[in-house]
Amino acid sequence: MLRMALPTGRVLKQAEPFLAAAGYTPLESLSATRKLTVPSKCGRVEYLLVKPVDAPLYIEQGVADCGVCGKDVLMESGADLLEPLDLGFARCRMVVAGKPEIERRGDNLLSPVRVASKFPHVAQHHFEKKGVPCTVFKLAGSVEIGAVLGLSHYIVDIVETGTTLKENGLVVHEEIAECSARLAVNRAAWYAKLGEVHELVEQLKQHCQSP
Ligand code: PRP
Repeated sequence: MLRMALPTGRVLKQAEPFLAAAGYTPLESLSATRKLTVPSKCGRVEYLLVKPVDAPLYIEQGVADCGVCGKDVLMESGADLLEPLDLGFARCRMVVAGKPEIERRGDNLLSPVRVASKFPHVAQHHFEKKGVPCTVFKLAGSVEIGAVLGLSHYIVDIVETGTTLKENGLVVHEEIAECSARLAVNRAAWYAKLGEVHELVEQLKQHCQSP
């Protein structure tokens, strides 16, 4: 049996029907239960419900054999995992956003650039790659406030519908990456449970959504 880490919240809502369609129906509603582990009806998988940011660690350390993780979370974690499938749901963009007038002021006025983000490693790496000195503040959520109230010049965050940015008077300045849910697999489990992992990949592959 495989143990699969599933991130609670945004990704779980779409992961549950996706897994059910592929024949991995959970024994109980994952979105409703407060249990942390839930078996599947087919008995081939047990689900481990974890905070999204923790999922890569559980998989990397082998507590879970595999899991569904947002690409945004995988990028930030830097965990050493195999990523055999882009599942295609939970699509969003990782962007640099801020007030519209920031760009008009020019980069010279912004050195070092102050950035607020739930993804500090991604943010740091992005600005360093451009050769722009930056100070990154790690926030746990509601990062838009950082830019609206002046903590930072920019935020690095995910955008799904764009509503949150719009309602806070912020705009996208740059796109960093297209993100979606991925199947992530522990390296040792890939070989130790080859048959089960292969079957899972083949089953899920048939239900992946193209852009
Ligand atoms: C995410 C993200 C944005 C929002 C984007 O936050 O950090 O705030 O969703 O979605 P939209 O483009 O559809 O408006 P989340 O809902 O995860 O809450 P958080 O701020 O507590 O992290």
